[in-house]
Amino acid sequence: MQIFLDSASLDEIRLAEAWGWIDGVTTNPTLVAAAGKNYDELLREIISATKGPVSAEVIATDKNGMLAQARFLSQLGKQVVVKLPCTTEGLAATRVLSQEKIKTNVTLIFSLSQGLLAAKAGATYCSPFVGRLEDQAPQQGEELLSHLRTAYDDYHFQTKIIAASMRHLAHFESAVGIGVDAVTAPLHILEKLSKHHLTDLGLQKFLDDWHRANLKFPN
Ligand code: E4P
Repeated sequence: MQIFLDSASLDEIRLAEAWGWIDGVTTNPTLVAAAGKNYDELLREIISATKGPVSAEVIATDKNGMLAQARFLSQLGKQVVVKLPCTTEGLAATRVLSQEKIKTNVTLIFSLSQGLLAAKAGATYCSPFVGRLEDQAPQQGEELLSHLRTAYDDYHFQTKIIAASMRHLAHFESAVGIGVDAVTAPLHILEKLSKHHLTDLGLQKFLDDWHRANLKFPN
């Protein structure tokens, strides 16, 4: 199971990489725009800041434009996974890229049918947007993950499901429970994964007991 940081901020990426359990990075045009750098320069920096896959999205909306941008992005490094929107053109481009062995991530998936077509196009990953769906209809994001998991397993698709658009820790945990292949989440959610108030309380008690006994740690 992979955990990706959803960010184009180098500071955030370096911070999360230092934790030792981040498997890669996903970006999108909004995140890249916020980073305020040239796209290729930024991507090169992100690629050198992580060992894992880096999802980078095309901006063109027609098949040929997407193919040209995808080929450009993919030559920036082996880690690049080209993100394409789940549109008629995006799916057609995904099919071609999959035949060229270029890794793809079909994004902006909001329905089982879209997820099915992404898999049939040969996508490496698909990104269902849980939070944005649930902004419109509560529970539907998690239902979508669950239906996608069942369909991909039933039909033996190799496409990996990345639960995306996470709004809070409960989204992350239910995605893991459903058995997605990966989750991508912003830093403020990933920061919470290692924390529990009972861990803090338990550790405090261990240390208090130790110090009260005046013990020394052996050298
Ligand atoms: C996924 O790849 C997207 O970048 C992301 O998860 C979108 O999340 P948002 O709905 O919080 O913008």
